[in-house]
Amino acid sequence: MVLDFSDAEIKVINEVFHDIEADAYDCSHDEIFVGEKKTAQDIFSRFFAGAAKQVILDIGSGTGFVPSTLNACRPTGSALICGDISLQMLKKSREKQVKGFSTGISFVKLDADYLPFASRSFDAIILFSVLHHLPDYGRSLQEASRVLKEGGRLFILHEPNKRFSQNGLLVAFSRLVGYARGLAAEVRPRQGKKGRSIYDRFRAAIQTRLSLPKTLTDAEIQALVDIHSPTAAGKLDKGRGFLVENLVSGLNNECIVEYQLTKNFFCKADDSQGLLRLFASLFSLLFPADGYIMHLVLKKQNRVAGVGK
Ligand SMILES: C[S@@+](CC[C@H](N)C(=O)[O-])C[C@H]1O[C@@H](n2cnc3c(N)ncnc32)[C@H](O)[C@@H]1O
Repeated sequence: MVLDFSDAEIKVINEVFHDIEADAYDCSHDEIFVGEKKTAQDIFSRFFAGAAKQVILDIGSGTGFVPSTLNACRPTGSALICGDISLQMLKKSREKQVKGFSTGISFVKLDADYLPFASRSFDAIILFSVLHHLPDYGRSLQEASRVLKEGGRLFILHEPNKRFSQNGLLVAFSRLVGYARGLAAEVRPRQGKKGRSIYDRFRAAIQTRLSLPKTLTDAEIQALVDIHSPTAAGKLDKGRGFLVENLVSGLNNECIVEYQLTKNFFCKADDSQGLLRLFASLFSLLFPADGYIMHLVLKKQNRVAGVGK
């Protein structure tokens, strides 16, 4: 599948798609709201519980998985800014936070590549399941690093790990599991309002924003929205995904890895029960850095006195 779109077009595609998906997002993303709840709670309490008050930025905040999860351990008096390119996602999130009486939260429509904040404004920046949507993710990370204070933390959570695709045994095993469970086709119709497919609504809406050379198929839309996801177009694309070392070097080694976790050794299959759970434990011992999903916490290093600006 050859899709030749500019970075600016991919961002518009993301905005339009997520505006349409906002209403249905929570019920169509069990892999986050159910599958990642405990992991996210563990990571956030490890870094935030008992800490001094913080100014936190959640980039690509969506309908509010991060703010809801952070509520339990956000240091008292902290400020949380939720930013997203999709206004509808932010509206949905705001409704939920108002219902939950959360305080100290604000919402900003923004593009991850041009953050409307002064340098060194934040103690922590979180991107949960966002990086694979950002066409020039290296630029977005540098922008995040610009607004992060020295000593602050950059959380890059729930992203596809390229090392999984490079591990022949894990790929073969996950294919076997996928076929056995009928998971071979990753792109399944997502329903939105009135049961109309989200892809149909996207095809209608995008025309008012971009002039496209042809009508996009469901798989093409998903591949553009999840521009760096190896599974977006229905089968494993080994060229997509992230390597920790590339992310760090792309930040000019300004940040160091403080915490890394990989999980899900069968790509998208649920490995929390039965025989798969046993194999997942075995693979995590044999290949601890090769799970399909990667969680990463980086720390921005303090500059040596007198060096740099
Ligand atoms: C998969 S959702 C993740 C939402 C939320 N973090 C979660 O874990 O549920 C990706 C989010 O990134 C947002 N996004 C995509 N491109 C963006 C950009 N260039 N700048 C800011 N947000 C963006 C989308 O609108 C969407 O809400």
